[in-house]
Amino acid sequence: MSNKIFASLKSIGAYAPKKILSNKDLEKMVDTSDEWIVQRTGIKERRIALDDELTSDLGVKASKLAIKRAGLKTRDIDAVICATLTPDFLCMPATACIIASKLGIKNVLAFDVSAACSGFIYILYLAKSLIESGVHKNILIVGAEKLSSVLDYTDRSTCILFGDGAGAAIIGTTENKKEAILDIQISADGDYAHLLMTPRSRATYPKDEKILQYLQMAGNEVFKVAVKTLTNDVVEILSKNNMRSSQIDHFIPHQANLRIISAVREKLDFPIEKTVLTVHKYGNTSAASIPMAMNEAYEDKKIKRGDLLLLDAFGGGFTWGSSLIYFGGE
Ligand code: ACO
Repeated sequence: MSNKIFASLKSIGAYAPKKILSNKDLEKMVDTSDEWIVQRTGIKERRIALDDELTSDLGVKASKLAIKRAGLKTRDIDAVICATLTPDFLCMPATACIIASKLGIKNVLAFDVSAACSGFIYILYLAKSLIESGVHKNILIVGAEKLSSVLDYTDRSTCILFGDGAGAAIIGTTENKKEAILDIQISADGDYAHLLMTPRSRATYPKDEKILQYLQMAGNEVFKVAVKTLTNDVVEILSKNNMRSSQIDHFIPHQANLRIISAVREKLDFPIEKTVLTVHKYGNTSAASIPMAMNEAYEDKKIKRGDLLLLDAFGGGFTWGSSLIYFGGE
């Protein structure tokens, strides 16, 4: 009888655009202050892509690193899945198709997933299922965002929060459960859709109506649900797997707001040393946020093979999800 095949997180890569938009820069654009932004969000600066730098370009740079670190060639990749809320094109072609094309990956399944800031956990879930079904062997998953393209830089309540960037990972196979993606849970509740939205598509407004051009968010209401959901998520996944928070080597939450992360961390008793924080450098990069944070910890040589990671995300939809992963890479 053949051994069971598990899905494994083999590598991680990320890319942050070079251009920095600091809180001081924002002070010149809207009625805000560095002090307000740092106190309320923990964000000090964020990265902004160039006009001609597309979401797919950011995704390609992150993907190249992930493919190389997994010791693979592009011909080894048998599926490409991209999570984004800022695709190169509205609806089609999928950004995953463009990323695959720019990487020279041909004739494999490629599609996008729309799950806002939970997007990376959603595509991780899909990749795990495709690998463990035995159909696929090396899946490239990418969370990439050019959020600056949907921000209103006259609206101080949203433009200070978000940034651009991308993170990618290779999900491969293993027979060793201690190097596998142990569990993932994802969920959604569309009753909250109105609290966090990007521009409507042509299908949802009459032709003569003014188009909603920018991202809109009821920050305060999102904040409260985010803290509760992110906390419950961790409690549930740990208890389902008979684990305690002390067994986690690295807690990698969605990087939306330092106050949200601190509230969750304190409720769950995670020490700060085990919590990966990048929100001060990149702001909220939505689907790219968790893989960018994971990459930072990896490049800082904090994450090593067999380490137990806990990912925890929440975003528009509302969508949410968490995952327990034994890192399977080098
Ligand atoms: N600078 C100065 N003052 C500001 C700014 C700013 N940039 N933005 C808002 N204010 C003012 C408001 O106008 C308000 O003034 P008022 O009291 O005179 O009316 C005051 O500050 C307080 O505003 P609140 O919205 O209540 O501020 P809050 O403490 O809630 O912080 C924030 C706002 C940072 C947006 C917070 O609510 C938050 O982080 N929300 C959650 C965001 C999140 O988690 N998103 C995750 C999902 S994102 C995704 O899926 C794409």
